Amino acid sequence: MSKKLYLETHGCQMNVHDSEKAAFALSDLGYEVTTDPTEADLIMLNTCMVREKAARKVYHRIDELKHSFRRVSEKRKGLPIFGVMGCVAQAETDRIFERSQDVRLVLGTQAIVKLPTLVEQIEQGFPRAIDIRLTKDAEFFELDAGVRQTEHVAYITITEGCNKFCSFCIVPFTRGRERSRPADKIVAEAQALAAQGFKEIQLLGQNVNSYGLSGRYHGSFAGEQESDNGVTFARLLERVATESGIPRIKYTTSYPRDFDAEVVRVMDTYDNLCEWIHLPVQSGSNRILRAMRRGYTRESYLEKIAHIKNARKDMSITGDIIVGFPGETDDDFNETLSLAAEVGYDGLYIFKYSPRPHTPAATYTDSVPEEVKTERFLKLQELQDRIQKQRYARYLGRTVEVLVEGMSARSAADCYGHTRCSKIVNFKADKQLVGQLVNVRVTEVKPHSLYGEIVL
Ligand code: 5AD
Ligand code: SF4
Repeated sequence: MSKKLYLETHGCQMNVHDSEKAAFALSDLGYEVTTDPTEADLIMLNTCMVREKAARKVYHRIDELKHSFRRVSEKRKGLPIFGVMGCVAQAETDRIFERSQDVRLVLGTQAIVKLPTLVEQIEQGFPRAIDIRLTKDAEFFELDAGVRQTEHVAYITITEGCNKFCSFCIVPFTRGRERSRPADKIVAEAQALAAQGFKEIQLLGQNVNSYGLSGRYHGSFAGEQESDNGVTFARLLERVATESGIPRIKYTTSYPRDFDAEVVRVMDTYDNLCEWIHLPVQSGSNRILRAMRRGYTRESYLEKIAHIKNARKDMSITGDIIVGFPGETDDDFNETLSLAAEVGYDGLYIFKYSPRPHTPAATYTDSVPEEVKTERFLKLQELQDRIQKQRYARYLGRTVEVLVEGMSARSAADCYGHTRCSKIVNFKADKQLVGQLVNVRVTEVKPHSLYGEIVL
């Protein structure tokens, strides 16, 4: 009888993709993925630590899962194996065992290759297993194209880790130094996905723009390093665009200092490079940007935005902003408001600053009171809602290409999918079209989504 794996993923796309890799790694041990935790033999939580709320959730979730498990399966002898992977595992290490007695497995962000061995050890009776090593030679996990869990959009890792050490961010500590995956491997993976029928891929990295610039992988791919020399992100995009055969190519996340005009030129040149750029600014105030150690100014960011706006394609720009960073005054926040208004984002993720362990900002004393953070959050959100309404209005009457991703939960005749610029579109269509690219004429615009009808 096959064993069941229940795998819950929190956080970013990188985690979603890591979960796919984990499921694939465990299939060799006979584990099949289940969506019902109460029938699981192994429960893995893939965790996020970028903000405190997300990190705290882990322990709460373990308790919840344990209780639902106990309610349903009293007859069973014991609890399933509980494992924690992802950023919380990397940062909290063996302290997780202390905080939650039920956890038996802790797997760091670079240890997915080791997952089957650790699970086997536990199956053989070891009480606990852990691997949290971060090394600059960590192997990239090569995922078989056929085993994805995301059905219509496939993720491809291009870089892992981050060398930026922005003063608020835990990622360099949880994901280690930046490493770039060899371009040939990336192109080959994209080609295999095209052969599988995938219509869209997303290239993933904490900072995709520094692809190839630092810490190229050196380990079992020795020799490929040579041929990779000089492959910048723009060149990689160009290769994937021309060699993969994939109709829609997206990427995330860009970093303002490393994002360059050449990337825009390449995006303008190839039709299968989608017109969406996620370029997080974090703050509109130079003083705060300096304290955040972002390495760019408001002015240089806006120059890059102007460049994107001058592109041939109508690019959709999205971003991230943190409000309430230590020492942020009303004047600083007003600079952020005016920057958001000037850019006119198509989507904005706003976060209240949350101090993270290991980070320099966590030691800054000049913290902004919680009420002020909330006030600023709401004010920026309100501005963004107004901007977004205008930005979305430009699609009314336009025909957009949509990847049909599924049927709406509300009505059996309604489908949903994403545009090339990553906006959600709802429309009536036959179930058979799921997984296909269709043209949809936009007939109605809502604050966070578009409505339309298929154009045949
Ligand atoms: N507090 C609040 N938001 C944060 N982010 C990263 N670290 C923190 C933190 N300590 C946000 C940034 C980043 C996004 C993924 O999460 O805006 O771009
Ligand atoms: Fe964190 Fe900055 Fe690296 Fe982004 S670039 S992952 S915010 S350290």
